[in-house]
Amino acid sequence: MHFRSYTLSDPRNILVTSALPYANGELHLGNMLEHVYTDVWARFQRLCGHQVVYLCADDAHGTPTMLRAQSEGVAPEALIDELRDAHVRDLKGFLISHDNYHTTHSAENQKMVETIYLRLRDAGLITTGEVEQLYDQEKGLFLADRYVRGTCPRCGLADQYGDNCEGCGASYEATEILNPVSTLSGKTPVKRSSTHYFFDLPKFSQSLRDWTSSDAVSGEVANKLAEWLDAGLKAWDISRDGPYFGFPIPDTQDKYFYVWMDAPVGYMASLIHYINGAGKTRGIDFDSFWNADAASEVVHFVGKDIIYFHALFWPAVLSGASFRTPSRVVAHGFLTVNGVKMSKSRGTFILAETYLLHLDPEYLRYYFASKLSPSIADIDLNLDDFLNRVNADLVGKLVNIASRCARFIEKDFDHTLAAEIHDAELWDAFQASRQSIAAHYESCEVSKAVREIMALADRANQYITRHEPWNLIKQDDKHDEVHGICSQGINMFRFLMVCLKPVLPETAARAEAFINAGELQWKDSAEYLREHRINRFVPLMRRMDKKALIRMMDDSKPPESPAAQLTQEQAEDNKHVSLDQFLNIDLRIAKVLAAEPVQGADKLLRLTLDVGTATRTVFAGVKSAYAPDTLIGRLVVVVANLAPREMRFGTSEGMVLAAGEGGKEIFLLSPDSGAEPGMRVR
Ligand code: MSP
Ligand code: ZN
Repeated sequence: MHFRSYTLSDPRNILVTSALPYANGELHLGNMLEHVYTDVWARFQRLCGHQVVYLCADDAHGTPTMLRAQSEGVAPEALIDELRDAHVRDLKGFLISHDNYHTTHSAENQKMVETIYLRLRDAGLITTGEVEQLYDQEKGLFLADRYVRGTCPRCGLADQYGDNCEGCGASYEATEILNPVSTLSGKTPVKRSSTHYFFDLPKFSQSLRDWTSSDAVSGEVANKLAEWLDAGLKAWDISRDGPYFGFPIPDTQDKYFYVWMDAPVGYMASLIHYINGAGKTRGIDFDSFWNADAASEVVHFVGKDIIYFHALFWPAVLSGASFRTPSRVVAHGFLTVNGVKMSKSRGTFILAETYLLHLDPEYLRYYFASKLSPSIADIDLNLDDFLNRVNADLVGKLVNIASRCARFIEKDFDHTLAAEIHDAELWDAFQASRQSIAAHYESCEVSKAVREIMALADRANQYITRHEPWNLIKQDDKHDEVHGICSQGINMFRFLMVCLKPVLPETAARAEAFINAGELQWKDSAEYLREHRINRFVPLMRRMDKKALIRMMDDSKPPESPAAQLTQEQAEDNKHVSLDQFLNIDLRIAKVLAAEPVQGADKLLRLTLDVGTATRTVFAGVKSAYAPDTLIGRLVVVVANLAPREMRFGTSEGMVLAAGEGGKEIFLLSPDSGAEPGMRVR
């Protein structure tokens, strides 16, 4: 990615965004990775004196929000308000400096998405078509792929998702899946067709190719987009049938904008809300950001999973509606914890809130910064490395420079820095890095900036160690030299603090108070303070406590199973099933008509059972104890009203009862002689 070269004489207007978090769950550390990335970049631009508007919002709409609200028995509006409050709280906790945090369920957004849609329609870019989908009659809902499970139409593997098979990797339409089941009701859905509204995406293939190669995205992302473009674009379905939590499409009956249609429009709506509210006095003009020929920059930070939406749909929708396209879309990889995908059951799904209960947000901001780059490779939070790196770099190196020097300046030199530079060559080396550190930030190569900053911190510490001011101070004729060394130490510390201010805003604020030369700006990194009075040294940052880190991980463990949390009394009650519950279980005598091994399942036998009124197929895990032939003609006890279970090899229509631990120790239950197939057991 080539970025415009960095110059201070060239003030810029930049609108920066993080992707809008869904309003149906709490923020986790993966979300925070993205906000920290965006925030560091936004703060760097402000540090350089540019006009930055950093915006975000909650992405409120869609079926998941609707369903979660239903299951909690609240209105979706109440749910999204509650989650927005939680999101804002967590984002503040991580020192994310949004200028505005809005919601897509807002008047501004509704008006804007309607405007865009009508412009697209007037330009002949909207078409309609019939779409057949699975429909859950019990819930009264068309089912999105994720709410359908069934047997893969290609390989026959049972219990697969509605859009792809984990067994053979095939992708398919949910309507193709065999034995589909709605995960919402457990019922078999029916096929039903309805009218949908489409945006003519293919029309923009060429302009998207041009935009893609205009430095708006990294080379890696450009390659991905080229693949998609080469494969050919399809018209994009922007509508959903009701009931749906979203905005109605103008001039339709019970059709709603698909959540991904109004979500990116939320970037615009958040700006409008800001301009009319908290940002009123800043003189920000909507058109200067969004008009087709706008000179200001629009920069979106997004995760790799939503590149398609931001680098194909969104620029196409914008140009179709005569708005500008984004200046850049910066994509990042996913956060893993200790090398694996965050997982609730493994206890590595760490909520932002849980982190903040135990640890300083700047630790994680720094750790993320040390790894962030515009690559879409995943980023690992390794907990041991996190502890070591933060303590070694921030406490051991950065803060150490100031604490080693400050006490001499305070005690021996009346809080005042020396008039001369002590080691001009070393200071020149710092100055020589200024441009490249800035260029790294500008091109979102935050990890490279941090590496260069920390290499300078090493040099500063080596310099202090080499000169041993604590020994020199004992010699009367060396006082001036100690003054020079420690003053240079403070100046180098100030330089490093300017460079890290985008990452460590609170530590920087404490350093500003101690250095006593105003709020640090980027230009201050070029300045050497002479004969300047500093304030008393205050501790700038504490070491990370390993125990706090462990407590955070403990708090992220999944709650114990509900049974383990019951009181003694509840547990006693729970030991019993009621007579009604017991009588609901339909136990029957059955006769084994056939028994055969199942290919690919070494524990199972496929049993054909006579249950009196009918024959049933039941898969029983008894093969290790019984040869198939020995079972034929034998009477067994079967749970006859167990819900049929889809297995890889077919459907099991009941369960045969047996005692024992498994292996050879399996003992089928059989009645005394005289019992007949079909007799009820109680
Ligand atoms: N609502 C959409 C975005 C709409 S933007 C107009 C969405 N929401 S999300 O809550 O699922 O994700 C928000 C952002 O967090 C996305 O950029 C997503 O890639 C990012 N991340 C979600 N999980 C993540 C990790 N584990 N690691 C890093 N980023 C992750 O997508
Ligand atoms: Zn398959």
